[in-house]
Amino acid sequence: MELTIKSSYEEMSKAAAVKVADLLNAKPNAVIGMATGSTPLGLYKELVKMHKNEGLDFSQVTTFNLDEYVGLPVDHDQSYHYFMHENFFKHVNVPHQNIYIPSGTTKNFKAFCAWYENRIKECGGVDIQILGIGSDGHIAFNEPTSSLSSRTRLKTLAKPTIDDNSRFFEKREDVPIYAITMGVGTILESRELLLVANGKGKADAVAQMVEGPVTSMITASALQLHPSAHVFLDTESAGNLKMRDYYEWIQAKKPGAPKL
Ligand code: F6R
Repeated sequence: MELTIKSSYEEMSKAAAVKVADLLNAKPNAVIGMATGSTPLGLYKELVKMHKNEGLDFSQVTTFNLDEYVGLPVDHDQSYHYFMHENFFKHVNVPHQNIYIPSGTTKNFKAFCAWYENRIKECGGVDIQILGIGSDGHIAFNEPTSSLSSRTRLKTLAKPTIDDNSRFFEKREDVPIYAITMGVGTILESRELLLVANGKGKADAVAQMVEGPVTSMITASALQLHPSAHVFLDTESAGNLKMRDYYEWIQAKKPGAPKL
């Protein structure tokens, strides 16, 4: 796992955006895995800026989102369809037909999930998967005890996730309790992983992901099994890392890094 620790959320988001832009410049028809939630908002803002100011081109890009709530129509302001449109897609030039987001309103979840997995394969697999991390250590909606080889499926959300997400809904009862989510196994098949985290609230989960055992209790710990996982943190979310000095040493001494 490669860790990059930045002094602020903005710096962390910029560094993560550069990673995605580098890939796009090298492979203009890249397949990008997208995440929702508050954390990647800064990263999306930076990518939009690069599109507008530097001509970063998404015209050949295909995207696959990690997850979607079950039961919310696509135009519901808390659906992940709506989130992606408002915060990213309406500002860049990803062709409409290249955007894939799990359907939360399908009548046949099993068939839809199998189709989604297959579509990822048909498009050549995900080149870089953007991820956030839940305070319970989840990636996508793979809650504690999700199999580390799980695939795209219907998932019941854990109570802490429902509590965390209730800040976006009028009442806690309005928060959907089911989601369709890519599995941990699906995510691990991406060629690169890019996880972003910020704030004190994520410090425990981040420490367990990086320095704890690989366990389905913290599904983000599966990143330890991936050969090309890049983790971008701000100083607060890195606050509980025991070996933080070491990670910062590696970051500073990386071949090609600016001299200290
Ligand atoms: C959303 C997703 C979730 C979030 C996680 C953190 O697509 O996959 O795993 O990344 O719940 O959410 P925020 O960023 O809102 O703290």
